[in-house]
Amino acid sequence: MRSATWQVALTRPGSAILVALLTVAGMARTHPDRFEMRQPIVGGNWKMNLDAAGSAHLARQVAAEVDGDVRVVLFPAFCYLLPVGKILGDTPVALGAQDFYDRPNGAFTGEVSLAMLRDVGVTCVLAGHSERRHVLGESDQIVNRKVLAALEAGFEVVLCVGETLEQRQAGRADTVNEGQVREGLAGVDSDTMSRVTIAYEPVWAIGTGRTATPEDAQSAHHAVRRTVEALFSAAVAQATRIQYGGSVKASNAADLFAQEDVDGGLIGSASLTAEDFIPIVRAAAGA
Ligand code: 13P
Repeated sequence: MRSATWQVALTRPGSAILVALLTVAGMARTHPDRFEMRQPIVGGNWKMNLDAAGSAHLARQVAAEVDGDVRVVLFPAFCYLLPVGKILGDTPVALGAQDFYDRPNGAFTGEVSLAMLRDVGVTCVLAGHSERRHVLGESDQIVNRKVLAALEAGFEVVLCVGETLEQRQAGRADTVNEGQVREGLAGVDSDTMSRVTIAYEPVWAIGTGRTATPEDAQSAHHAVRRTVEALFSAAVAQATRIQYGGSVKASNAADLFAQEDVDGGLIGSASLTAEDFIPIVRAAAGA
């Protein structure tokens, strides 16, 4: 955004005042360099919510408001992927799937393959969401198989990690997150890391109304980034987006996203209405 501003300045000297104003506005961003290195990403994880009409309506509202400054991905329920994908069409809003099975096809009743998801326009998938880990029993090994399969098939992957309250209280938050990152990314090539986002979602903050403080989120994100650096390189770690999830709302989003290592959010409840979700996307644009 700012490089476009400088282009205007170079080609039209008369626009110096406008440039000065835009530059000051740009400086209001907490971490301008970070913003250029890692475009913020905001996901709307609709989970098992909304119906056909509600999904379509919300997709239309989000598509009308998002201009591409922030990467926005919507994750509707499986049965609404096709209609929501049609609505999103060529807009900058991407279509994501909440889950998938890592085998190409076969006798796996109830499962959905990556090829099927690609067919209906999905480009991004979640892996290891805490509800899949803790409610549906997915292990780190299953999560890793999914990450590898999705990358192999050319998708963007959001690897979700996060500690439980018990683990946090025992002082093991960073160790648990490090383990989930290491296991989740085992066997991943650094070349494909540009298609991986990590979502730090402390289990105790999901759907509870309790949010990590901006300082706690920053500390956890920093530790996750250090793990990515140890696994790959400093350059990969600096380029990898780490988004925060867990009771993000319009009222707390800006403070969370202003943290140096917080590159946007993965939003549950507050992604279910445009009134709640769009201000969060705007907070990420201004972070
Ligand atoms: P809530 O925003 O409802 O806490 O959910 C967060 C989440 O799980 C997003 O994936």
